Amino acid sequence: MKTAITELFGIEHPIIQGMHFVGFAELAAAVSNAGGLGIITGLTQKTPELLAKEIARCRDMTDKPFGVNLTFLPTFAAPPYPEYIAAIVEGGIKAVETAGRSPEQYMPALKAAGIKVIHKCTSVRHSLKAERIGCDAVSVDGFECGGHPGEDDIPNMILLPRAAEELKIPFVASGGMADGRSLVAALSLGAAGMNMGTRFIATKEAPVHQNVKNALVAATELDTRLIMRSLRNTERVLKNANVDRLLEIEHAKGDKLTIDDIHDQVAGVYPRIMLDGQMDAGAWSCGMVAGLIHDIPSCKELIDRIMGEAEQIIRGRLLGFLDGTGATRKVA
Ligand SMILES: Cc1cc2nc3c(=O)[nH]c(=O)nc-3n(C[C@H](O)[C@H](O)[C@H](O)COP(=O)(O)O)c2cc1C
Repeated sequence: MKTAITELFGIEHPIIQGMHFVGFAELAAAVSNAGGLGIITGLTQKTPELLAKEIARCRDMTDKPFGVNLTFLPTFAAPPYPEYIAAIVEGGIKAVETAGRSPEQYMPALKAAGIKVIHKCTSVRHSLKAERIGCDAVSVDGFECGGHPGEDDIPNMILLPRAAEELKIPFVASGGMADGRSLVAALSLGAAGMNMGTRFIATKEAPVHQNVKNALVAATELDTRLIMRSLRNTERVLKNANVDRLLEIEHAKGDKLTIDDIHDQVAGVYPRIMLDGQMDAGAWSCGMVAGLIHDIPSCKELIDRIMGEAEQIIRGRLLGFLDGTGATRKVA
């Protein structure tokens, strides 16, 4: 399939991946080898030197293009972003996914290195800002997404066509994407591809504890919760014992909540969950799309399946409606 996104990043399929404590070289290389755009999560590497090593490790595992995510979120200690960017540039990376705050101040350095920048946005106004400051593409993250959906609560059924109405640069749909149906829907709504987070955690190559993958297969679309709303740092996470505790604290404190009140449930919990498989250790990002995850394929099996399903839906189901043979066909 060729879209503005496959052409922009030089990839075979318009499918992107990227996540904290999951986006290591193993997963990024597996996604890129399968024809998508694998993304190493920059800040999961504690220092720019470690990121440089992770980029080199990924390069050993794939000769296909892969990218790095740089997330500008309120964190407990601000990372040295210019040094991370230097590691990205020196590592020969040509695709950077930015997220959180605007990447404006870092655009000159990224553009000077010939890097294509895709900024993740949860609103049309932020997408337009990204376009204005010279981003090459946008990843439009709807309310259903795992991680930080912003504070507008607009689901992709509305957000994507709204983005299509306003944007000139290409965009991918992010949030709730799982399969060929998602991809075709995203294309129909104006996107040129899709970004998947949660779905890629439940793959053979995702370097996370088996308990995490099993939890995703077991979870339904009803099992995510929104936390940190009153801090205006809303995050969609998978429900567990510590998330229940966190929500009790949030409820009790109301508008008086500070990050210190919930520090134990949100800070530094990823290694215990993702590496040790302690599923109640704290809050970890997870999308409603968990309800559509029923297996743990390899990245290649997943991407091939998505592309096969997409083709079947377009050529069979959709064309069938037009040529009059589709009325009796089963839903894909
Ligand atoms: C475990 C996990 C960690 C994530 N970490 C990051 C991150 O560090 N930076 C970022 O920009 N997005 C992060 N995300 C968001 C994803 O990149 C993606 O936008 C989101 O998962 C899309 O929604 P989906 O989960 O429904 O596919 C994370 C998502 C998950 C599930």
